[in-house]
This record gives sequence, structure tokens and C-alpha cells, in this order.
Amino acid sequence: MQSSYSNNSPEGQIASLINDKGMIPFDVFMDMALYGDSGYYRSSLNPFGVNGDYFTSPRVHPVFAFCLAKQLFNMWKILDSPVPFLIYEDGAGDDLLATDILRSFQIIDSKMFDATNYYIHDINLINSINPKIQNATNDLNIFHVVISNELFDAMPVKLFEVHNNTVQEVFLSLRNSRELQETLNFPSPELADFLRPLNVTSLEGYRGPVNLHVEDWVSKISEKMNSGFMITIDYGYLEDIYFSMEKSHKLIQTYYQHSDGGNLLQRIGRQDITAHVNFSHLMSVGEQNQFKTVFFDTQKNWLELLGFDQIKNIDMFNNRRIQNLLFSLVDQTGLGNFKVLIQAKNLDESELQIFNNEIHTFDYSENIEITKRHISYKLM
Ligand SMILES: C[S@@+](CC[C@H](N)C(=O)[O-])C[C@H]1O[C@@H](n2cnc3c(N)ncnc32)[C@H](O)[C@@H]1O
Repeated sequence: MQSSYSNNSPEGQIASLINDKGMIPFDVFMDMALYGDSGYYRSSLNPFGVNGDYFTSPRVHPVFAFCLAKQLFNMWKILDSPVPFLIYEDGAGDDLLATDILRSFQIIDSKMFDATNYYIHDINLINSINPKIQNATNDLNIFHVVISNELFDAMPVKLFEVHNNTVQEVFLSLRNSRELQETLNFPSPELADFLRPLNVTSLEGYRGPVNLHVEDWVSKISEKMNSGFMITIDYGYLEDIYFSMEKSHKLIQTYYQHSDGGNLLQRIGRQDITAHVNFSHLMSVGEQNQFKTVFFDTQKNWLELLGFDQIKNIDMFNNRRIQNLLFSLVDQTGLGNFKVLIQAKNLDESELQIFNNEIHTFDYSENIEITKRHISYKLM
């Protein structure tokens, strides 16, 4: 029977897959809704930008990249100032963060700037005109620092619920062979294996996501790093909060034009779907791949350790609207409550002073350009 969706629409493509193969797990649905031929990230030109459905920290103001550049300067020093200094950013979206980090390097240390080769990667190919920014290819071998901002929240996740002390996985099926609907069924072996040690079955009514792509991603990164750092910035919690009734039903969200998009099954391909990150999982998978956690805290506290307060108070930011925008980066009800996880591989922990006094001595300079891609551009 024909579904009630047009064949070319993302809904139609998902319905036709279900017609052919039977019900599909939520992660397959999310993958098609975001990254399928007419999925959200394929059809929206720049969903995370000034005119998009949501904005991310690098897009608020270049101060975010400047603070991250200070962190990278310290890491470069800890690694004995390698030449070349190889940075890899995954899920970059575009080259804005890369461009701003490189501009900041020019102010902080010209030797580090000269040494840096910055590689970016995204599911959608990125074109950068900056000669220091290149698309990463599979044959690249070694990186010193790997960065991601809001990459993990955009990966397709499995979704499960707990009913009568058993775990049930969320699948998508067709109601009356015509309309998409959620159906609960036995969990896949991978999901069941992941959840078994967590004792979630006592959380009656719980609903939440599991990202099974983390292991593959971290092990591939580990293969490409002898010693160095991984910096992950995203929203999420440690396991004790993540798998608690307080967060039940709240860990998977939709975004449409800067607001909660509501129902997961509406506006498919036109609204973003994201999942909070389970940082305990990232830490334990990191440990299995020789990465030790050296820092984990909120974005607010991390930015403050990097001198954000001093930068925020300088004269060029006297404008009240710019001040409010800068505050959004450390606002604990928003971006400030994002988490920053820094993991280090093959480095002597006793020597890892990733924050030191030296990194406070660089002045934020007017040379850092606010461009049309920054939200702050409109307020200048
Ligand atoms: C929320 S956006 C963040 C973009 C950018 N990092 C920022 O902070 O503005 C997530 C990005 O991750 C990309 N992405 C999702 N899964 C990915 C994967 N497995 N590998 C590479 N990029 C991925 C998406 O295409 C999208 O551009």
C-alpha cells in the first residue's frame, strides 16, 4: 500500500524503507532524517549559523575560539612545540572555528601559527579558502590535538524505554501501512549489551538515547595519535544523571527555528534532532584507547580558567548587547552548562599543567575579526 507521504520527501523515503524491510530502529530513522539524501544536514545550507535553527558557541563571538586557541597554545608547549603542529577538527560544519583559531594563533605565537596544519572534516564536504585549513583524508596519519564542538550530539542514537523492568528499543513502523509511528520491541544485541551493566531496568518509564558510534570514532582517532589531546565540547551529563528519572524523556530534542521543534516525527528533514552526550561513556571508551581524562567541567568554568572574564571586561566590549551575547557563552542555563572534556594520550600526567599563568598574558586584540558568520556581527 502507498504511504501518505510523497516519494521524494524524507518521510516518503523512510516509509518506503519500512515497506521494503519492516520496522527500522530509531538510529536508522535519525540517520536518514539528518543525513539521508533529503535529510536535515543535506538540505539546510547552514543550520547552525546566524539564520539557522540554532547557534553554537564558535558562532556567537570569536572570543570562544580565542580561549580555545590559548588552550591549544599550552598543549603545543606540553608536546614540545612540534613542527608541524597537526590539529584535526571533526564535525566542523564549516571552517569558522578553524579560521578564528588560526587568527588567534597569529596573535598568541607566530611560531605556533607557522607550525600549524589544521585539518577539518564533516559529513558534508567543507571548502575553505584558507591555505592552512585542509580537508582531512583517510590516509592522514598522526594528529596532536583533536577538537569537536557539538559533534557527538549530532550522531544518530538508539532510543530505549524501560517498561515492567525490561528494556525495549524504539523502532519506527507504519500505522495502517501509511503513517509513521513509534513501536517498542526487543533491543538489538548491541544495545542490550551496552545497557546490561548499567542496571537501568529499575527506572520504570525511563526513555533515553544511547550513542553506539562513540567506540568506533574514538578508536579511529586513537589510531591516528601517538601522543596528544582530545577536546570534546558538547552538552550532556555523567552517567549517574544521564540514566536517572530526572532526565528521562529529556535527552533527545528537536530544534526548529531556534525553538523546541516538538514531536520527533514531524518536519522530518526540516528540523534538527539531537541527543545529549553521555560523558561517562566517552571517558571509559577513551580509557580503553589509552586516553586519560585530564579535565571535565562546564564550559563556563573552562572559559573562566582561560581568562574569559578579563577578556569580557575590556573596553571594546562596552556595548551592553555585546556583553549580553558574551554572557550567553557562560550562562549556566545555556551554553555555559555545556561540558568540556579533555583527554590525553601517552602523556605524563604529573606534567600536564593544561592551564597555567602564561596563557593569561595574551591580550585579546582588536585584530580578531568579527565577520558576518558571527552572531555578534549584527550588534556592532
Ligand atoms: C551541531 S553541528 C556543529 C557544527 C560546528 N562544529 C559548530 O559548532 O558550529 C554538527 C555537525 O556534525 C556533523 N557530523 C555529524 N556526524 C558526523 C560524523 N560522524 N562525522 C563527521 N561529521 C559529523 C554534521 O554534519 C554537522 O555539521
